[in-house]
Amino acid sequence: MTRVLNIAHRGARSLAPENTLAAARMARHAGADMWELDVAVSADGALFVMHDDSLQRTTNAALRFPDRAPWTFSGFTLAELEQLDYGSWFSESDPFGEAAAGNITPAAMAAFRGEPLLTLRAALHFTRRHAWQVNVEIKRLPAPLENFPVAAAVVAMVDELGMAEQVVVSSFVFENLRAVHALNPAIRLAALTGLVETEPQLPDLPLFGVNPHYVGLTDGAVRGLRARKVAVLPWTVNAEDEMQRLIDAGVSGIITDFPQRLQRLLGS
Ligand code: G3P
Ligand code: CA
Repeated sequence: MTRVLNIAHRGARSLAPENTLAAARMARHAGADMWELDVAVSADGALFVMHDDSLQRTTNAALRFPDRAPWTFSGFTLAELEQLDYGSWFSESDPFGEAAAGNITPAAMAAFRGEPLLTLRAALHFTRRHAWQVNVEIKRLPAPLENFPVAAAVVAMVDELGMAEQVVVSSFVFENLRAVHALNPAIRLAALTGLVETEPQLPDLPLFGVNPHYVGLTDGAVRGLRARKVAVLPWTVNAEDEMQRLIDAGVSGIITDFPQRLQRLLGS
């Protein structure tokens, strides 16, 4: 039987600040087969890694630029983004309680302070250097970058670095998948879907995978998707009993904030 893929959501974000190199390192250390990240674009067109539209939750933007609320990333230049701290919020809040549980040392928590911006280029370099895999999620960009050709920019970078075989591009926005496929059909595609319907509408593209929300993903739904010859990679599954249920249901991989838990469950 093929091994269930262990995919670290935004890096191992229970163990380090999400979407940073620190989180990617933790994910590798935990044994993840792949990490997942979200692409953002600066006001001057640089690709970097960030989940929220606002910089407020995961950086010190509100302190550094107090008059720039709501701190939407698309309003900041790369030079401004480089001035921010992407780790102190994690050291201060321990968002998953892993430090309190003794799973992150005080020294490691302190070391996250001052974590730098992660550009997409650096994220891809890290992935390539470690012969690893990355799931690059392309979201809809906030104003004024709604029409920025982000899919084309991602493909250009992947091609320049010769990394088509190490990258999966996922998106809820199927036009992004179409754009990637048109530019480089060797890059694997995954369609993100919300709560699973019995027959989700999928784009008419050769898909590597479907990434459904795990809630309500029944055994029958997994079977139905597998019958369409796609990998089934639910997100974001953090509880061990739910991971086990989905493994038993036949999923191809699991996207999780706790790759360390999934790795234990997979027994390696
Ligand atoms: O890839 C699944 C997941 O990353 C989609 O949701 O909001 O965590 O990016 P989000
Ligand atoms: Ca994501």
